Amino acid sequence: MKFDDQLFATAIASPNIALIKYWGNRDDVLNIPSNGSISITLANLVTKTTVVFSPEYSKDTLILDSIELSGQPAKRATTFLDEVRNMSGISFNARVTSENNFPMGTGIASSASAFAALALAATSAAGLQLNDKELSILARKGSGSACRSIFGGFVEWVAGNSDQTSYAKQLCASDHWELVDLVTIVDTTHKRVTSKVGHQSALTSPLQATRIADAPHRLDLCRNAILSKDFELLADIVELDCNMMHAVMITSNPPLLYWQPATINIIKEVKYLRSQGIPVCYTIDAGPNVHVIVEKPYKHDVLECLNSLDDVVEIISSKPGGGAKIINNGST
Ligand code: DP6
Repeated sequence: MKFDDQLFATAIASPNIALIKYWGNRDDVLNIPSNGSISITLANLVTKTTVVFSPEYSKDTLILDSIELSGQPAKRATTFLDEVRNMSGISFNARVTSENNFPMGTGIASSASAFAALALAATSAAGLQLNDKELSILARKGSGSACRSIFGGFVEWVAGNSDQTSYAKQLCASDHWELVDLVTIVDTTHKRVTSKVGHQSALTSPLQATRIADAPHRLDLCRNAILSKDFELLADIVELDCNMMHAVMITSNPPLLYWQPATINIIKEVKYLRSQGIPVCYTIDAGPNVHVIVEKPYKHDVLECLNSLDDVVEIISSKPGGGAKIINNGST
C-alpha cells in the first residue's frame, strides 16, 4: 500500500486578527468580499490538520478536537475537499483530523486557521504544489478570512472582483513591528450568529454602502501606519474601522449586537490608557471579546489594568506569527 501511504499531509496555520475588517460579500458563494481587509497573523495559536485520501474510505470523515463533525460544518468541509478533488483529479474520500491549541468560541476566529491548514494539507496530500497566491484563493472559498492566514506577519486581502483576483499577500514580515494582541475574553460561549450569516445580512444596513465606499481610504491609512510603524495613526483607523463594522451589524435586519457591558468597559479603559500616552487600541470581531493591541514594551502595564476589570475571564497574549506550513507529508 505504498501509493496510499503517500496520500497524506499535515499542515499548521494560525488565526488572524483583522485591523481593517471584512464584512459583507459581493459574491457569497466564492467569498469575494465587498471590501479589502488587513490583518495580523497570530503566533503560538495553531490549528494542526492532517488529511489522508484513500480508496478505502467510503465517505469523508472530519474529526475536530476529537469530535466527528456532522451537519453544516461537515458539509462545508466536504464541499471544500470536492474543490481539491476537482483540482487534482483524485476521487478518493478523505479522513481529516484537526486540532486547535486554543479554545473555540473565545473571540479567536478558528475558521481562518482551519481552512488555511486544510487548504495546504489537502492540496499537498493530493500531490498538488500550489503557490501562496493559489493557496490563498483556495482557502478563501472555505472561509473568507482564511485567505489571510496563508501568510505570516501583516497581511492584506485585496478584494478583487473575481475568483482569480481576490487573494491575500504579505505586507510586512512578523518581526517588522513588535505589537502584541491581548485577546481579552469576557464570554466563552459560542456566538449565536455566525459570520457567514452576518456577511449575508450586511447589505440590509443602510450604513454598509458608506462603509464600503470609504474602505480604500481606511486601507491606505492602515497600510501606511503599519509601514511607518505609526501607532497613533494605526489606533485611530483600527478603532474607527471596528466601530463602523459594528455600526453596520447593529443596524442590519435582523440587528446583530455582539457587545456586552464588559466589552464597553474594556473599550473605555483602552481609550483612557491611550489618553495617558500608552500605545494601545482595541478591535472586536463578531463576538463580545476584545482584541487589545499594544506595543510590546507596554504589554505588562496594559495586562495589569485589563486584569483588574470586572468580568474579564481570561487574557490570551499573542504576537505576529508565521504563515501556514507543511510539517509532514507522504514523501518525507
Ligand atoms: C468579523 O472569514 O469568519 O472576523 O467566510 O463566513 O467564514 P466566513 O467568514 P469569516 O468572517 C470574518 C469576519 C470578521 C472580520 C475579519 O476577520 O475580517
